[in-house]
Amino acid sequence: MASLTQTMEAESTVNRQLVRWVEEVARMCKPEGVHWCNGSQAEYQGMLQLMTLAGTAIPVNPEKRPNSILVRSNPADVARVEDCTFICSRSQEDAGPTNHWEDPAKMKAKLTGYYTGCMAGRTMFVIPYSMGPIGSPIAKIGVEITDSPYVVANMHIMSRVGIQVLDALGEDGEFVRGLHSVGAPLGSNEQDSTWPCNAEHKYICHFPETREIWSYGSGYGGNALLGKKCHALRIASVQARDEGWMAEHMLIVKVISPAGQVKYMTGAFPSACGKTNLAMLIPTIPGWKVETVGDDIAWMKFGSDGRLYAINPEYGFFGVAPGTSMKSNANAMLTVTKNSIFTNCAMTPDGDVWWEGMTDDKPGELMDWLRRPWTPGSGRKAAHPNARFTTPASQCPVIAPEWQDPKGVPIDAILFGGRRAGVLPLVTEAFNWEHGTFLGATASSETTAAAAGKVGQLRRDPMAMLPFCGYNMGDYFAHWLKMGAKSEPSKLPKIYYVNWFRQDERGRFLWPGYGENSRVLKWIFERCEGKVGAKDTAIGRVPEPAHLDTRGLDLPAANLAKLLGVDVEGWLAEVPLIKQHFAQFGSHLPEAMNRELEGLAKRLRSAKN
Ligand code: OXD
Ligand code: MN
Repeated sequence: MASLTQTMEAESTVNRQLVRWVEEVARMCKPEGVHWCNGSQAEYQGMLQLMTLAGTAIPVNPEKRPNSILVRSNPADVARVEDCTFICSRSQEDAGPTNHWEDPAKMKAKLTGYYTGCMAGRTMFVIPYSMGPIGSPIAKIGVEITDSPYVVANMHIMSRVGIQVLDALGEDGEFVRGLHSVGAPLGSNEQDSTWPCNAEHKYICHFPETREIWSYGSGYGGNALLGKKCHALRIASVQARDEGWMAEHMLIVKVISPAGQVKYMTGAFPSACGKTNLAMLIPTIPGWKVETVGDDIAWMKFGSDGRLYAINPEYGFFGVAPGTSMKSNANAMLTVTKNSIFTNCAMTPDGDVWWEGMTDDKPGELMDWLRRPWTPGSGRKAAHPNARFTTPASQCPVIAPEWQDPKGVPIDAILFGGRRAGVLPLVTEAFNWEHGTFLGATASSETTAAAAGKVGQLRRDPMAMLPFCGYNMGDYFAHWLKMGAKSEPSKLPKIYYVNWFRQDERGRFLWPGYGENSRVLKWIFERCEGKVGAKDTAIGRVPEPAHLDTRGLDLPAANLAKLLGVDVEGWLAEVPLIKQHFAQFGSHLPEAMNRELEGLAKRLRSAKN
């Protein structure tokens, strides 16, 4: 094996703990060589070349999308595996009822067995990365060790990688340790598969107390790009609890009024519920503009002025491709015109990528994501429903100029939401922070293809963090309440609950969504300015039809009434479900959440009479 120092850039500062850890991992995993990533363009190109030579990737026609590749994974490795995701805190109670738990020593002993020799025949890559602009007081450093060139290339796009990170880390700086292996050692004469992974054993393990991640067996998305869900949400949520800040599954948008006033909003929506679309929305109301700061994760800290500031810790977008089109999200389509990695998309005869919903007319023939010939009549999806694009945020035509501001952007409003066919109105404003925390804590949504498992099942997904909270969810609600008590109520962001997915009795969407959601953003914007009204109802403050700008929108009044109405019976039926949801947290549930539930039930009963 090449010596570590030989493969490192001579001028970089070497963190002693990092070198020791890399040596330890190399002894355990027994790779053929060790490569320290410097984050350079040449290194990125090298990874694309490696993948192309191995048959993992094929180049997309450069005349269609320069410097882009299409990767097809193993069908057994296509999404986050929540059933194999563990929070290995010392005490099970700290992981709470919504996480899988295992004792850290036991899990490490078991995984050490799997990791021993697991990188045989492969190169071990060491990726120093920063989540957030290097040097930002909100940013954090991590190092991922992986045996997957696909992971290295994706991490180059999704985080800030390289020598500058090692410099910022210095000799003694702290970092999150992420160990990843596809779990597919190679014998000396063994041919590699195009998507190495371990079909039998997958483990995505987090050790919150020691800030470590051990991921084994999957090479896909959030299972393998450890800076994203594992570090920036599961481990960071614990760091945030301990250090008094917030790590949230939220997009960040900048909304600009025709008068040039600016408000920043974050939005927590479960996976594949339109965060990327909302983050890049093109308003349909004249004069309004939206710019993007982030599409998936927000880290928020109070500034000395008492306001909450957010950064996007990521550097790129790992977006769901199916459904993305010039109509649904033109800015995403323009972002992925070059320098992008496409995973599990279909390929057109002229070497471009395609997915369901990209164009009105389906191509006459394709190669599907399983590399089989496909025609529109074949009755199969050409792209996997969780097919993805990985693309640099800087390429987004509406990226906000301040998206890399180290101090973050001051947040005016926080939105929660999910996919609900009934009951939840188009938009509700919380009475205050505590009520807003309750709205987030009770958020629910129908499941999507972003995670392995059944699609369309209703589940409670508090703050869209159900798969991503690294500790007891009851304590997480308490942390939200604690954060709200840190500043004056007038300086806190206002909190909203939105539902773009309401349907009528025949299953048709009542609200057109996409760019029309700007009408809701406008109402929220003007609420923040105290310029527009709302009606107090049992569930919160809801706009009257006249408060919402629906000019130019072809929406029957009856639909709008349904979208903004309070379905008292439907809500009364939610109360026991919320009670049941809360009961799982036992003594960890803050009393304020029970108080909110009682208040809601009481208001609903009086609305009924
Ligand atoms: C994602 C997810 O990839 O939430 O962002 O699954
Ligand atoms: Mn996400």
